Amino acid sequence: MANSSRAPGRSRRLRTALVVSAAVGLLATAGAVVLPGSASAASTLGASAAERGRYFGTAVAVSRLNDSAYTTILNREFNQVTAENEMKIDALQPNQGQFNYGNADRLVQHARNQGMQVRGHTLAWHSQQPGWMQNMSGTTLRNAMLNHVTQVATHFRGQIAWWDVVNEAFQDGSSGARRDSNLQRTGNDWIEAAFRAARQADPNAQLCYNDYNIDNWNDAKTQAVYRMVQDFKSRGVPIDCVGLQSHFTGGSNYPSNYRTTLSSFAALGVDVHITELDIRNAPSDAYRNVVNDCLAVARCKGITVWGIRDSDSWRSNESPLLFNGSGQKKPAYDAVLAALNSGTPPPTGNPTTPPPTGNPTTPPPAGSCTATVTPGQVWGDRYNTSVTVSGASTWSVVVAITAPQRVSSTWSGSFSWDGSGNIMTVRSNGSGNTFGFTTMMNGNSSARPQIRSCTAG
Ligand code: XIL
Repeated sequence: MANSSRAPGRSRRLRTALVVSAAVGLLATAGAVVLPGSASAASTLGASAAERGRYFGTAVAVSRLNDSAYTTILNREFNQVTAENEMKIDALQPNQGQFNYGNADRLVQHARNQGMQVRGHTLAWHSQQPGWMQNMSGTTLRNAMLNHVTQVATHFRGQIAWWDVVNEAFQDGSSGARRDSNLQRTGNDWIEAAFRAARQADPNAQLCYNDYNIDNWNDAKTQAVYRMVQDFKSRGVPIDCVGLQSHFTGGSNYPSNYRTTLSSFAALGVDVHITELDIRNAPSDAYRNVVNDCLAVARCKGITVWGIRDSDSWRSNESPLLFNGSGQKKPAYDAVLAALNSGTPPPTGNPTTPPPTGNPTTPPPAGSCTATVTPGQVWGDRYNTSVTVSGASTWSVVVAITAPQRVSSTWSGSFSWDGSGNIMTVRSNGSGNTFGFTTMMNGNSSARPQIRSCTAG
């Protein structure tokens, strides 16, 4: 129960104040921390995935947030969301230069209130373009596309964990070629140009290439996307992840080499995400296999299903989701939860392991600083923490959050997260030496953030 006593109020705050300096950070943390124990049987998809350092999310149609049956399941089960349509180009920029963020912002706010991570979908795509863009070509289109990427990624900066920067740019079938589209006709480098613009606009978001029919390792399309990612990595094009939509609907099936595909992409040095999962008739076996395959690949960061109830699905006639139209759990739900629960929690750092012994030839660590935690206000579902740094005016502090807890808002620092969302790096951003953040408890009311290190400079 992390370094906290349970007494409320001011005395508790004083007793739980924690001072860790960089030099003794590991040891001090080690003494104070109780890490999550062995695999437990979490009772929701999101909580179970979080215990394994992952997320379990869903596509959300913002209009359905008014349906309480829908929202009850969403808030209970999922810790990640993707806008089903509301962050597409036609939704965000219906007329050139006129941006319409209302529905997307509503989803981001909902996610924030619930401590859910948001996948942005999607900045550049041949489909769901507004009419004005469909009619463009050449340099005019290229510039309009880059402007869209820049404006949208800037608007959502700090709120989006992963962007699908480019969606569906390859052809199906045996050609391994790019898909023909107005964007492709602006030049083969349109994809990397989009990634570069996105990185510049939101340096903390993870940038993904997303596609369907790249699940079977033997498919020409899979191989072609693999070669593009390999090329991007070798040339320093900023790409962090590959999203496999994994629509096993509309005639495409779960392939037995799916795990090979996930691990092969991961071996290129990118994370992999299963971004739009749905499976015709929701067979428990295929759903279980997808979860097991993701859990077997360390860089598989999470799974998003493409809707909550069958009645919400874009392919509702195939009943491909985990809840039926009445919101009841289907057998596939039980299979997914059981598979998640039997997965091994990720290594969390062993509190009894001493820090590596100093190597006399290794230069001393960069200047040290001291990070002092002051617990803040506590509500039923969340709590605030502030951290004051002394000993340096520019610094970087690493803070570990115990899953399923999630940071939902931040202030007075520049915040970034590792792929699991549990390790947060906070850099000074010129707004003083005290930063703060709100953490959603998500069912764990006792854990508290742990300082891992404080580095000056
Ligand atoms: C679909 C939505 O689910 C539908 O509501 C919409 O009419 C069309 O788009 N690949 C994608 C998603 O990347 O954006 C698509 O979503 C499904 C296929």
